[in-house]
Amino acid sequence: MTHKITLIPGDGIGPEVADATARVVEATGVSVEWDRVDAGVKAQRETGKFLPDAVFASLERTRVGLKGPIATPIASGHASVNVALRKKLDLYVNFRPIKMLPGLKTRFQDLPIDLVIFRENTEDLYSGIEHEVVTDVVESLKVITKTASMRIALAAFEYAARENRQKVTAIHKANIMKMSDGLFLRCCREVSAQFPQVEYGEMIVDNACMQLVMRPETFDVLLLPNLYGDIVSDLTAGLVGGLGIVPGANLGKYHAVFEAVHGTAPDIAGKGIANPTALIQSAALMLAHIGERDAAKKLQMALEAVYAEGKNLTGDVGGAASTGQFTDALIAKI
Ligand code: NAI
Repeated sequence: MTHKITLIPGDGIGPEVADATARVVEATGVSVEWDRVDAGVKAQRETGKFLPDAVFASLERTRVGLKGPIATPIASGHASVNVALRKKLDLYVNFRPIKMLPGLKTRFQDLPIDLVIFRENTEDLYSGIEHEVVTDVVESLKVITKTASMRIALAAFEYAARENRQKVTAIHKANIMKMSDGLFLRCCREVSAQFPQVEYGEMIVDNACMQLVMRPETFDVLLLPNLYGDIVSDLTAGLVGGLGIVPGANLGKYHAVFEAVHGTAPDIAGKGIANPTALIQSAALMLAHIGERDAAKKLQMALEAVYAEGKNLTGDVGGAASTGQFTDALIAKI
């Protein structure tokens, strides 16, 4: 069977890591027909739109996408294409497994870090509702709803129960934001009551950041509203070798878009040295999602073998290989 998958290469290092990932997926033997569509800077140049309708048309056909990072200008300029895509397709779960690869040299290399982030993906301070009240005074609205909080909590607990995870920890700042984060917490508690087999805990976000650095191996499933989820994702990526490593999935009821946690890495774009591991691990999640579990496992095992060997790693994780050399070594292992 041939799988039709939307491929959005993206900006910066996006095309480099997307090409590497497409080669690796094909090497697993799974038959894929890529529907390549552009979003981001290239799309804007060619069509006048950062997020052209062709992207939605493709995802409507395929229901599954693999996406490189897309640049969002800081402080002014266009709105985030990523946020728009997640909202329009209602990709309400942002799923990010954080696991140490074998052989990787990091400050935390001896710790068995294996945690999973469930980040709410559609609201919170990312609702993008900002205005100037009077000159030099601006407001950003933090929107938290029961609907969105219940469904992300349910996704986290269902996952924990299915995968035999021990504990779900809800991360919040309800001591200060008593109404908004308070509602989020009440929803997490309500859902947790349906899963007595899964331990439930709560932690204030600032303390959680410290505990994650001091005792990362004690965390299991983390359940967070959008902004804390975004920040804590990068923090936890730093525990297991950095943004070059960590994969992710944006999941909705009808669509799934797989993408790395990292951005466009403008400092290394075009140099052929980006680490494609994060998008490749995202592709492994994608293969499992489309029912190709054996190929996903084969890919993951080959990746772990390349890391354990340590001879063909990219610069961000202490090696000297180019994106192409790393990819060739991985394909040879597959
Ligand atoms: P970034 O993730 O692009 O880069 C942070 C640091 O990590 C840089 O030093 C970079 O070289 C390194 N890095 C990231 N990915 C790497 C990889 N695969 N291999 C080796 N090193 C890697 O974050 P930054 O600089 O904050 O954002 C740059 C742009 O990316 C911004 O426009 C931002 O809006 C966008 N962005 C897009 C995302 C998406 O499309 N999902 C997610 C995060 C940021």
